[in-house]
Amino acid sequence: MTPPRPPCLQRARAVCLALLSVAALAGGSAQAATPADLLAGYSAAAGAPAVAARGQAFFTTKHGREWSCASCHGATPLRAGRHAGTGKAIEALAPAANPKRFTDAATTEKWFRRNCNDVLGRECSASEKADVLGWLQSLRP
Ligand code: HEC
Repeated sequence: MTPPRPPCLQRARAVCLALLSVAALAGGSAQAATPADLLAGYSAAAGAPAVAARGQAFFTTKHGREWSCASCHGATPLRAGRHAGTGKAIEALAPAANPKRFTDAATTEKWFRRNCNDVLGRECSASEKADVLGWLQSLRP
């Protein structure tokens, strides 16, 4: 029979593993996501690559309600937009014009959810998000 491992060694290993995973998590959030990471995630979830032209059409068209995405973000999201309800300025959405965009998955998801519900009355699909982000990423000042 093999003797049980000394408990302190087991504990040290558990602490070591816990620290490693915390370090990985901290590294993950400090090292923010890139628009390319998020696009890869949406395309993988959609099971197909993004189609930028379809993203542009989706963004600039109404979907049976009062607003399109462009109503607030503008048809050329390299420039600042204006909230169609409150009139507040909204910083440019295209990553080439605004490096803060699409660098935090939780923020991006939060706004996709809210804005898609306003514009479509439902959440956007992974494929719609991929198309929109693919188009936004293709825009150059
Ligand atoms: C009623 C106004 C309004 C409409 C319509 C709207 N948005 Fe937004 N959007 C906002 C506001 C306000 C923010 C948050 C403020 C900011 O980030 O500048 C935002 C932020 C976002 C973000 C966050 C990006 C990031 O990572 O920083 C995304 C993505 C987005 N909108 C996509 C869309 C899409 C796609 C549509 C159409 C389905 C849409 N929006 C329609 C107002 C709007």
